[in-house]
Amino acid sequence: MREFGYSLAMAKVRRSFVCNQCGSVSPKWAGKCSECGAWDSLEEFTPSAAGGSEKKDPQRGLAEAWAAEGESAAANPEAVRLDEIEPLDVPRLATGIGEFDRVLGGGLVPGSTVLIGGEPGIGKSTLLLQAAARLAATGRTVLYVTSEESSQQIQMRAQRVEDNGRDARSTGDARSTGDARSTSPADLYVLADTNLARIFAQASKVRPAVLVIDSVQMIYNASLDASPGSMTQLRRCCMELVYLAKSTQMAIVLVGHVTKDGQVAGPRLLEHLVDAVLYFEGDRYHAHRIVRGVKNRFGTTLEIGLFEMGEFGLAEVVDPSGVLSSEAGSGAGKPGCVIVPAMQGSRCFMVEVQALTASGILGAAKRRVSGLDANRLSMILAVLEQHAGLRLADQDVFASVVGGMKVAEPAADLGLALAIAGSHLRKAGAAATIALGEVGLSGEVRRVSQIEQRLREAARLGFRRALVPAGAAADKGLAKGKGARSIEIVPIRSVSSALESWR
Ligand code: TYD
Ligand code: MG
Repeated sequence: MREFGYSLAMAKVRRSFVCNQCGSVSPKWAGKCSECGAWDSLEEFTPSAAGGSEKKDPQRGLAEAWAAEGESAAANPEAVRLDEIEPLDVPRLATGIGEFDRVLGGGLVPGSTVLIGGEPGIGKSTLLLQAAARLAATGRTVLYVTSEESSQQIQMRAQRVEDNGRDARSTGDARSTGDARSTSPADLYVLADTNLARIFAQASKVRPAVLVIDSVQMIYNASLDASPGSMTQLRRCCMELVYLAKSTQMAIVLVGHVTKDGQVAGPRLLEHLVDAVLYFEGDRYHAHRIVRGVKNRFGTTLEIGLFEMGEFGLAEVVDPSGVLSSEAGSGAGKPGCVIVPAMQGSRCFMVEVQALTASGILGAAKRRVSGLDANRLSMILAVLEQHAGLRLADQDVFASVVGGMKVAEPAADLGLALAIAGSHLRKAGAAATIALGEVGLSGEVRRVSQIEQRLREAARLGFRRALVPAGAAADKGLAKGKGARSIEIVPIRSVSSALESWR
C-alpha cells in the first residue's frame, strides 16, 4: 500500500538529473555520471517546474510575448526543401577589437548567442565592456546587463578603460585597443538586474543590437520554482535568451564562470545551447590573456586572440610572435630552455618550452606540466630513456610553456625532449636556435605541418639555426638553402642525433 502511494507521488513530479559536467540527463541519481564518468556531478532538474504554464512553449518562455509582436522570423517555421533555402549572407557586427573579432570569425552575428567562459577575475567583464563601448561608438545600441556588479562599478571600469583610448590617442600606441572614437558612447546602456523578466522588459524598451549578460549564472526566471543559480534556472534562462536572439535578430553575449577544473555548473551545460563558445584563458598573474574558440557555428575554432591586461584594461597584442619571443628570449640559451615555433590557427608563435629535472625518489618521481600535455611528457621521457640513454626514472621532471600559453601540438615534441635532456645534462643550445618535430616511439623525429611558415616566421624574428625533421628538410629542399634563407637548417633523424646537434 505504501509502495503504491509512493509511486503515485513520483508520477506527479517528473524528476530527472542532469550532469553538470557533460549535460547528460538520467532518470535516477547516481554518484557517478554514466556518460562522462564524473563523480558527484548529477543535480536534480525539474523540466516542468513552470507550474501552471504547461501550454507555453518552455523554450520561448518570456521571450514569446516579444516574438509574437511580429518581429519573429523563427516563430512558426515550416519545412523547406534544402535547395530552396535562401542562402544566408551572414552579416557581422564587428566589435572593432581585432583580436576578439578574429576569434568570433569576423564579428558578432545578429541573432546568434555567444558564451564566454573563464575563471573569475580573468577579464571577461573588461573585454565585453570594451567591446560594448566600441560597438556603441559606431552607432549600435548595446545593453550591458550586469548581474554581479552595480552600475556604478561598471561606470568606474568604463572610465578606467576609456583612459586607454585617451592614452592611445596621445601616444599613438598601435597596440592599444582604444582609438579616437572611444569617448563615452551615448548608445551604451547599463542595467543592474538579475530578474529575466525585467531584463526582457528593459531590452524591449532599449531595443539593443547587442545584449550582454554578465553573468548568466546569476540570472533567474521568477516563474520557475527552482532556486537562482540552479541547473534548472540556468538552462531555462539560457534557452529563453537563445530564443530571444533568434526571434529578434539581436546578438547576445553570455558570460559564464568556470573554476580551474571546470567544476561549477554552468558553461559546460550551456555549450550545447549556444552558437559559439569562447574561453578566456591565461594565468591571472600573467599579463597575457588568450581568447580561444571552442565551438563556433559561424567560423573556425582554430583562431585565438591575444590580449595583455594592463592598467587601462585589455590591449590587443598585434604582433604576438614578436612580443612572445622577445619575452621568450629571456630564457633561451640556458639549459632546459628551447624555443619552438608553434601554430595557433593561422598564426605562428615562438614559444619557449622549459624543463627542469631534479633528483627525486625512484618509483615516486614527480612529473608536472603546465601548458603542455602530461601524456606527451610521459611518452617523451620513455623515449629519452630507451633511445637516448638518459636515466630519468629517479628524476622529478617539471615542464612548462612560458607566458601562460598552451601548446598541444606534437610539433613541440622535439623541443620538449631537448629541454628535458638539456636540463638533465646541463647542456644549452644557442639562444638563436629553434627545434621542431614530432617524436615517435622508436625515437625517430617525424615531419610536422606548415614547416615553411614556421621557418619563415623564425627567420623574420632573427633566429639563426633550426633543427627540423630530416624528411621535411629533404622534401622541401630546405637543406640546400633554396632561396635567400637566412636560417641554417639542421636535418634531424632521431632524438639522439638531435642531442648531438643541440649546441
Ligand atoms: P574582470 O573583467 O572583472 O574579470 P572577470 O569579469 O573575468 O571576473 O577583471 C579582472 C581583473 O583585471 C581584475 O582583478 C582587475 C584587473 N584589471 C586590470 O588590471 N586593469 C583594468 O583596466 C581592469 C578594468 C581590470
Ligand atoms: Mg566579471
